[in-house]
Amino acid sequence: MASFLASSRVPMLVVVVLFTLASLMGSSLGNFYQDFDIIWGDWRAMILNDGELLNLNLDQASGSGFQSKNEYLFGKIDMQLKLVPGNSAGTVTAYYLQSKGSAWDEIDFEFLGNLSGDPYILHTNVYSQGKGDKEQQFYLWFDPTADFHTYSILWNPQRIIFFVDGTPIREFKNMESIGVPFPKYQPMRLYSTLWNADNWATRGGLVKTDWSQAPFTASYTNFNANNACVWFNGASSCDTNNFSPPSWLSEDLDSADLDKLQWVQTNNMIYNYCTDAKRFPQGFPPECNMS
Ligand SMILES: *[C@@H]1O[C@H](CO)[C@@H](O)[C@H](O)[C@H]1NC(C)=O
Repeated sequence: MASFLASSRVPMLVVVVLFTLASLMGSSLGNFYQDFDIIWGDWRAMILNDGELLNLNLDQASGSGFQSKNEYLFGKIDMQLKLVPGNSAGTVTAYYLQSKGSAWDEIDFEFLGNLSGDPYILHTNVYSQGKGDKEQQFYLWFDPTADFHTYSILWNPQRIIFFVDGTPIREFKNMESIGVPFPKYQPMRLYSTLWNADNWATRGGLVKTDWSQAPFTASYTNFNANNACVWFNGASSCDTNNFSPPSWLSEDLDSADLDKLQWVQTNNMIYNYCTDAKRFPQGFPPECNMS
């Protein structure tokens, strides 16, 4: 490489392009070997294609799962998922950030499988200090088993936003000012697991997992956590002296995003804890009265 670059016959433009490519590759292409550990299911979790693809499998003996090597305190994190195709009833693919301990924080995407041709449910939740109960559920506007789609979490001190293919589907704002705890103090790791939940997942547990279809497989690619603050040894990678905060750390939805969010919430949301009066006979949680 050195002698190649030293040659005056290599045009400067080529050198610049090569360096740019090398730095892009170093930072932007997630590699599952580098970024994740398999934590469950032995061979059922498989890293393939030199680290570009990860498959989770579920059979009658076990599910499988992985976790990020890094912990993060705030970030904008993308992953592409292709969900279990065909008859996926009874299966759940969970994709989430979670901190440790009994007063943990958590930001959840869960995909509840279904019979062939029937819609998956995308279930979302937010936990602060061990308390969740903030579910919203959606039908997707595409078949999530036919191709990879991008599922993103924006988590900054002001808000958590769930995105699907860049479309915001849910916003959970920091409402500490009215006494609602917000995940802000505990670093979280990224996890994903594929498991059997046929006691509740599909039509509330009526449709069971058909084990003759096993193994069930969900696939992952293009992990991107370049826009995240890595927590290491009690310090954040974003906390350096000459660090100018990136825009995602204060990102808000603009009016076009708000229109999209409104569209999804009107057309694709099938459950919202904030409208479930039966569940909260004594009145809704305070954050529900905010918007
Ligand atoms: C499965 O399909 C049924 C029938 O369309 C639907 O009611 C249900 O919400 C779907 N999703 C799940 C996970 O049960």
